[in-house]
Amino acid sequence: LRELEASQRTLLAEHEERIHLLEMERRRLHNDIQELRGNIRVFCRVRPLLPEERERQRGLPHLHFPPQDARSLVLTRPDDSQLGRERRPELRYDFSFDRVFPPAASQQEIFQEIQLLVQSALDGYPVCIFAYGQTGSGKTFTMEGPAPPGTPEARGMIPRAVRHLFLGARDLAGKGWQYGFSASFLEIYNEGLRDLLLAKGQRGSELEIRRLAPDSDELHVPNLTWVPVESEEQVLELLLRAASQRSVARTGLNERSSRSHSVFQLRIQGLHAARDLRCTSSLTLVDLAGSERLEKSGSVGSRLRETQSINSSLSALGLVISALCNKEPHIPYRNSKLTFLLQNCLGGHAK
Ligand SMILES: Nc1ncnc2c1ncn2[C@@H]1O[C@H](COP(=O)(O)OP(=O)(O)OP(=O)(O)O)[C@@H](O)[C@H]1O
Ligand SMILES: [Mg+2]
Repeated sequence: LRELEASQRTLLAEHEERIHLLEMERRRLHNDIQELRGNIRVFCRVRPLLPEERERQRGLPHLHFPPQDARSLVLTRPDDSQLGRERRPELRYDFSFDRVFPPAASQQEIFQEIQLLVQSALDGYPVCIFAYGQTGSGKTFTMEGPAPPGTPEARGMIPRAVRHLFLGARDLAGKGWQYGFSASFLEIYNEGLRDLLLAKGQRGSELEIRRLAPDSDELHVPNLTWVPVESEEQVLELLLRAASQRSVARTGLNERSSRSHSVFQLRIQGLHAARDLRCTSSLTLVDLAGSERLEKSGSVGSRLRETQSINSSLSALGLVISALCNKEPHIPYRNSKLTFLLQNCLGGHAK
């Protein structure tokens, strides 16, 4: 019996070793695939017309989604510049993205495209997802879901990503990995940082971005609230809490326009105790403030200052991303609070 037990033990150890090696191999292959698809990807989502827009215009005749090509979008415009009677062909602009989602695309379809990146976050790579677009184009809807929250189908990318992480962590528990998650939520408004998980009365002075140690490149935000999270429901609660604190205003283009960049960050810590292996990473989901033309939104006074600050930080983000794409030696992270804050989550192996 003792002999049998000993041989079973060896067999078990061999199996555990094999499972571990396969898991490390899976991580490597998953990362190879993600890098082949591109560490920086751009998707385009066109939201459906809202009921009041449907009264004013018929469909989206100027937008064309070529069938069988989920990566292209064609924009056409009648050429008004002609003189005389001669009819000129329409002006045509071709755009290509890693993927284009037409108005009928569901939140689930959008999430399918990003869920592999969420897996990368669990495997130890920093992942950052931005929603960028004109005010009213559906960024907050995509990231958080409708306000007030609707059916589970309408849930946005943040609750879906978190759910996916929790499920993935449960899977990896069978392979000896224990995961812990904590969440923070802040907004950058007029180049100042605000903790969205604290009510206005509870907030102290404005938050700062600091180096973790004088000689370290790691940045952190002292005094920012980090809440340990274990379930999707807890995260939905945090979203509601943050939404009530976020700076919004009515602009000429959106009833409830987000006037700040909101940054939801999940810190992920994995530990394989038996092998003394650790992995830490982060998943960051950013709902950028709406980009807009000043004259279109009719901004004046404090709205004007907001709009200018939004536009300058968006262009700083654009410069950082194009410097990363071109693999330039200097990446201008320091030009805005947003890019400075995300410095550790954008370069290197980040997705
Ligand atoms: N895919 C969609 N399906 C249905 N309704 C949508 C969709 N996307 C956005 N909407 C609706 O469109 C309106 C504007 O969307 P949202 O507030 O998300 O825009 P935004 O890009 O966050 O704008 P801002 O930059 O001003 O904050 C909201 O009423 C939202 O519910
Ligand atoms: Mg918004």
